[in-house]
Amino acid sequence: MKVLVTGANGQLGYDVVRLALQKGHEVFAATRHELDITHLDETRRVISMQMPEAVIHCAAYTAVDAAESDADTAFRVNAYGTRNVALASEEVGARLVYVSTDYVFDGCANQPYSEHHPTAPQSVYGKSKRAGEELAQMVCRRLMIARTAWVYGEHGNNFVRTMLQLGRTREVVRVVDDQIGSPTYTRHLAAALLALSEQDVYGIYHLTGGGHCSWYDFAAEIFRLASLPARLEPCSTIEFPRPAPRPAYSVLDNLALRVNGMPRLPAWQDGLRAYLQEIGEYKEGNVDV
Ligand SMILES: NC(=O)c1ccc[n+]([C@@H]2O[C@H](COP(=O)([O-])OP(=O)(O)OC[C@H]3O[C@@H](n4cnc5c(N)ncnc54)[C@H](OP(=O)(O)O)[C@@H]3O)[C@@H](O)[C@H]2O)c1
Repeated sequence: MKVLVTGANGQLGYDVVRLALQKGHEVFAATRHELDITHLDETRRVISMQMPEAVIHCAAYTAVDAAESDADTAFRVNAYGTRNVALASEEVGARLVYVSTDYVFDGCANQPYSEHHPTAPQSVYGKSKRAGEELAQMVCRRLMIARTAWVYGEHGNNFVRTMLQLGRTREVVRVVDDQIGSPTYTRHLAAALLALSEQDVYGIYHLTGGGHCSWYDFAAEIFRLASLPARLEPCSTIEFPRPAPRPAYSVLDNLALRVNGMPRLPAWQDGLRAYLQEIGEYKEGNVDV
């Protein structure tokens, strides 16, 4: 199958390209340089020249806090850029997998959000991603929306890397324990996105690592598996004010995977272990040595 990946140089896009190649697909890895999705003509030209059977759309404006004071850029990329990709995909008859986010929900629930729970994004970033979902649904028939959360991978800055750095350079590291979600490893997510792109299983999917935890729990597992020396302390979100509100509870129910008989992603702890092994930071066996 020929697959075109947008945002190919990003944390997720990089692993989607790598895995697609490993699976023997023909891949066009579109970085921003090859394809700036904010230009409709360029998007149409590149996608019609490549004629992919599937487009995995990973490009996004992901600066969640900066988006609060730059809504135009967030919407230009995440909403209308996604419309451009959706329109161009529709015109060549390609399946489109659009990667979206848990930030489309308000975070006030106390049980996992299914794909059919009403959305209520609280941040500019969340609103721009939700607008991208709606615009894609308007123009593309062969569409799968894949919402994910708390993503980390080899090719990018993320929470795990920050903890590895702080855990070695600080005596005490404080991490919020009142936001709950599901950490998701890019390699596990990439496999699920590729599986969607190979089938006519249109609809919305929640693709996150199995289980859930707080950021503090996540940090504690990173500290344990990487044998980091710093002391970890819990704190609350109000002690760390940020420009963009974060959903307090953003656990996603994987209902669509379940009822369509598709495999769920491995547990978040397994994703973390695999990631630490991949980047040479897994020290669990050495803890008591
Ligand atoms: N990271 C998370 O925790 C998380 C959680 C939920 C959902 N998601 C979603 O997952 C997807 C992938 O996220 P990620 O973590 O891989 O983000 P990322 O590392 O920031 O990658 C995004 C990529 O999009 C590219 N891009 C930005 N504007 C573009 C444009 N106008 N045209 C073409 N490419 C453009 C960026 O290129 P440059 O490198 O040139 O800027 C970057 O390579 C996004 O849709 C994001 O919304 C992420």
